[in-house]
Amino acid sequence: MTQTTPSLTLASARNLLAQAGQDHLLTFYPQLSSDPQRQLLDQIASVDWAELARLIQTHVLKKPDVHIPDHLEPAPFYPNIPPQDLAAKYDQARHLGIDLIRQGKVAAFTVAGGQGTRLGWNAPKGTFPATPIRKLPLFGCFAEYIRRVQDKYDTTVPWYIMTSPVNDAATRQFLEQQHYYGLDPANVMIFPQAMMPAVDMTTGKVLLESPASIALSPNGHGGSLKALFASGAIADMQQRGIEHISYIQVDNPMVRVVDPQFIGLHAIDNAQMSSKMLPKAFPKEKLGNFCLDHGRMTVIEYSDLPDELAEQRLPNGQLRFLAGSIAIHAIRVDFVQWLNTRPGGFGLTFHRAEKKVPFIDTATGQPVKPDSLNAVKLETFVFDALPMCDTSIIYETSRPDEFGPIKNADGHDSPATSRQFQIERAARWLESQGVKVPRLPDNAVDAVIEISNLTAIEPDDLDDVDLPEAIGRGREVLL
Ligand code: UD1
Repeated sequence: MTQTTPSLTLASARNLLAQAGQDHLLTFYPQLSSDPQRQLLDQIASVDWAELARLIQTHVLKKPDVHIPDHLEPAPFYPNIPPQDLAAKYDQARHLGIDLIRQGKVAAFTVAGGQGTRLGWNAPKGTFPATPIRKLPLFGCFAEYIRRVQDKYDTTVPWYIMTSPVNDAATRQFLEQQHYYGLDPANVMIFPQAMMPAVDMTTGKVLLESPASIALSPNGHGGSLKALFASGAIADMQQRGIEHISYIQVDNPMVRVVDPQFIGLHAIDNAQMSSKMLPKAFPKEKLGNFCLDHGRMTVIEYSDLPDELAEQRLPNGQLRFLAGSIAIHAIRVDFVQWLNTRPGGFGLTFHRAEKKVPFIDTATGQPVKPDSLNAVKLETFVFDALPMCDTSIIYETSRPDEFGPIKNADGHDSPATSRQFQIERAARWLESQGVKVPRLPDNAVDAVIEISNLTAIEPDDLDDVDLPEAIGRGREVLL
């Protein structure tokens, strides 16, 4: 399922660009050979110039007003451990989640269109080696999780992967080389998201990255809600009888790719789009905040949440605005269909990101490497669909069980921290089965342990596994 870009004639490209005030993009066209000429026309055809012209006025030439609603309330959430009065509901929801998975009504969806610049990995992020011993790439972690769910519940969980035109071919090639980690390729669908041009922030002119190409970048993870539809993935899901999409990012090897408890709570409450949250560790932790705006679920970026709200505490000392977004969602297929077909259009708002973008000066033909912010990139965010839901639930997950993302080359959220969290979790799961795990005086695990998703995706799965009584100090143990 690939999106085909309709090509344009030179005359229609001229016309489109003239109307949008972007004719400079054809400056070098006459000097190009026929392939690069075609490539440039294809790129021009892939952009919605009328929408871009509007956005340049509202988001590039001026900064859009960030509207923080007056009456923000913290969003309620289902706690990780159910209180007594909800225990029966959690149980019922978990069973509903399992039934939906068993009946083949749940698909996994990974957004992998980002550029992964912070990690400095020169290939699709999903190919990054993530596990402590096997160095299994992120895509391998998700595929093994899906295989385990399929075996456990005797079902098929189709896997949809959103790439971008920049990493689509490399992603396909990689997964083919890995034989889809044992998944049936007929149940793995890869499709690219759309791109948006980078625009000079003072002139409003779209930048050329080379004489034959526009500086394009992926249009944000909100673009996934459009690409799911435009690629035919939603139609494919409908044909397969899929009702719910389990949405995950590409960066977290510890994620529950499909979680019956979460899917079940989302389904039992008839939510259109739901989210997992982590309790923030401190008021301004860099996570989006789940809030209610006149009863509608909304995410307010950590940088936009006023300090006095961020600092508020309940009488028991807990942060009042506690729920931080970790970008895991359950989304109804018919909600995505509705977003793409509703009167009034798709409707996710664009966000402005200021970046340093190298470009070709059309006056001189020379490449320019700016040393300060020179351009605006425009992105939509998936969580901006939440206010459009009539019902949206939040479910608290446990940080040490599900959050070990790999985002930065070092420091926090890096390969090193993720490795440590994966080893810690494996140790706790083994200890819950009575295995003795060596620990250092500061309680750190003194061994390297990896539990494959094929072996266990929750501690109870280890009941049937032949486990050692104890793990030797400093040993490597792969289960
Ligand atoms: C994101 C969230 C943040 C959350 C954190 C949890 C935003 C703005 N921030 O931050 O609130 O706490 O994750 O880990 O969402 N992607 C695409 N196409 C794009 C852009 C991104 O597919 O055009 C994908 C990436 O491949 C990745 C995910 O979206 O899987 C997140 O992208 P990124 O921009 O790196 O967000 P974070 O800064 O990690």
